[in-house]
Parts: sequence; C-alpha cells; structure tokens
Amino acid sequence: MIVRDVPALRAAIARALEAARHVGHGGGETATESPSVGFVPTMGALHEGHRTLVQRSCAENAVTVVSIFVNPTQFNNPDDLARYPRDEARDVAMLNEAGVHIVFAPTPDVMYPPGFNTWVTVDGVTDVLEGEFRPGHFRGVATVVARLLRAVRCDRAYFGEKDWQQLLVVRQLTRDLLLDIEIVGVPTVREADGLALSSRNARLDSTARTAALAISAAIRHVQESFAGGFTQTDDLEQRLHASLRREPALTVEYAVIVDAETLRPVKRLTSPARVLVAATVGGVRLIDNGPVGSIQ
Ligand code: PAJ
Repeated sequence: MIVRDVPALRAAIARALEAARHVGHGGGETATESPSVGFVPTMGALHEGHRTLVQRSCAENAVTVVSIFVNPTQFNNPDDLARYPRDEARDVAMLNEAGVHIVFAPTPDVMYPPGFNTWVTVDGVTDVLEGEFRPGHFRGVATVVARLLRAVRCDRAYFGEKDWQQLLVVRQLTRDLLLDIEIVGVPTVREADGLALSSRNARLDSTARTAALAISAAIRHVQESFAGGFTQTDDLEQRLHASLRREPALTVEYAVIVDAETLRPVKRLTSPARVLVAATVGGVRLIDNGPVGSIQ
C-alpha cells in the first residue's frame, strides 16, 4: 500500500502491527516480544542493492516500511536532481513482490511543509570526502533522514555500506539525538564484474560502464596488496592511484585510505580502514568503497 503523508503512514503502520500481533508473526521474534518495524529509506529507481536491504528488513521485522523520496535538499547540483531517474510504478511493483507492507512516497511539501525551518548538521565526519566535494549534501541527508525516522518511528533502519560516509553520518545523528533506533549497515551489492549497483548506473553508456569498472578493480587491488603484505597507507594509496590512472576516461575526485570510523588519515593499517573513491565517468559521478586493514 502507498501512503503519501505522515498521518496515513502512522495509521497504516498501526494497522499492520495490529495484524502482525494477531497472526503472531514477529519477524523472527518470540511471541512475547511486540512486533518490530523495519525501515528502508530510498530515493527510488530501485535495484538489487535496495532489494537486499528490503529483504533483510522483511526477514528481521514483522512490518517493513520503504520510503521513496528524491530529497531535493541533498542535491548540491540542480542538474543531478533534474536527471535523477524516477519510476514509481516499477518501484512499487518490485516492493510488493518483495513483500513490503507499506510504501511511504511523500510529496515535497509533506517532507518540507511551509514554515519548515530546522536543519540537522552533523559535524566531524562530514568535514571530508563527500562533505568536501558536495557542500550541503549531508545537511540535506541528515535532515531528511531524521525527519523520516521520526515519521516512521521504526525499531530498525537499514542503510547500505555503498554510501559508507552516509552510514557514519546516520549512526552519529541517531546516537546524538537519542533516536533509539538500531542502524543496520548492509554490505554493498555488486554486479558479477564488480561494479557497485547504483541508480546512477542507468546513465552510463557501454563505454562509460567499462571505464567505471576501474573503480572497483582499484579497490580490490588495494585489498589484495594488503593481503600480500603492504600495510603502509602511503604505499597502498600510490597503488590505488596508479590503478585508477590506467583508465583515462575516469576523472578522480578523491581516492583515499582512511580510518573506517573517523575517516581520518592513518599511517599504517593496524585497525579497520576503508578505501573510498569518487570519480566521474561520462558525466556521471560514482562512489564506491571497501574494507581494508583487518577482518571487518
Ligand atoms: P538511495 O541512493 O536510493 O539509497 C538508498 C539506500 O540503498 C542507501 O542506504 C544506500 O546506501 C543503499 N544502497 C544503494 N546502492 C547499494 C548497493 N549497491 N548495495 C547496498 N546498498 C545500496 O541513500 C539514499 O538513497 C539517500 O541519501 C537517503 C538515505 C534515502 C536519504 O535521502
């Protein structure tokens, strides 16, 4: 079922929870526990990555809510917003098939009603990388996520590791604002050849798509180098850049190896770190990342 405003959303959740109590279906919980609500926020144009988050939520909760909202405040580039792919009918069909109970597809004035004037800014982890290259992006993300989490009042919310820095921002705001929601990070879903799934991949022509493979290949190259004994970040970053340079069609914005939690530089990989890359290819901006430095 599709709902478009917060009262309808909350009524639908209450009904679904009531039904779950009667059926005694607790999404893997025992009968004594009250049924839980899982939530997957998205901007639509759904693919297998989103589907994996949804499946996880459906397996772990009695009721799953998925939101579809292309959040204008997180786009620092108006062109990117205008060209963002949208196909609500297809998305809803996919979610129905996956067993989702409630699709929350608000209009912009539901998320940003007249007089809306509160913004959530997360400091620290937003100073670098996406925060640096997309000014204002995380302010838009943090604000819409905080509002969505309060609208749904879920027990668990599911986010992809594909957007590693976003996951850290959401964990931080959930802790700081005492939202009492479990944030579940889900590993990146990839095509067989390594390309991380993204709604933006739809805009890659076949030449650009081939060039884009260099991003995940470079991340793998770092992981293999680490496994082969390289532990100095300088050496590994050189290998990362050398690998990316082999694909001339890529314009790299950043390619770094940093502490997985603080995103600060590290000299040697003795604790969990992350390789993070942003690059444009054929006019499409892509991001990817992967773990390195210890078993994660
Ligand atoms: P969107 O890009 O639609 O992504 C929705 C969720 O799907 C995010 O948590 C994202 O990390 C996850 N995701 C995307 N591609 C994935 C992949 N290949 N594997 C695993 N998970 C993947 O991220 C957003 O929307 C927005 O910023 C949002 C959080 C909805 C706020 O507007």
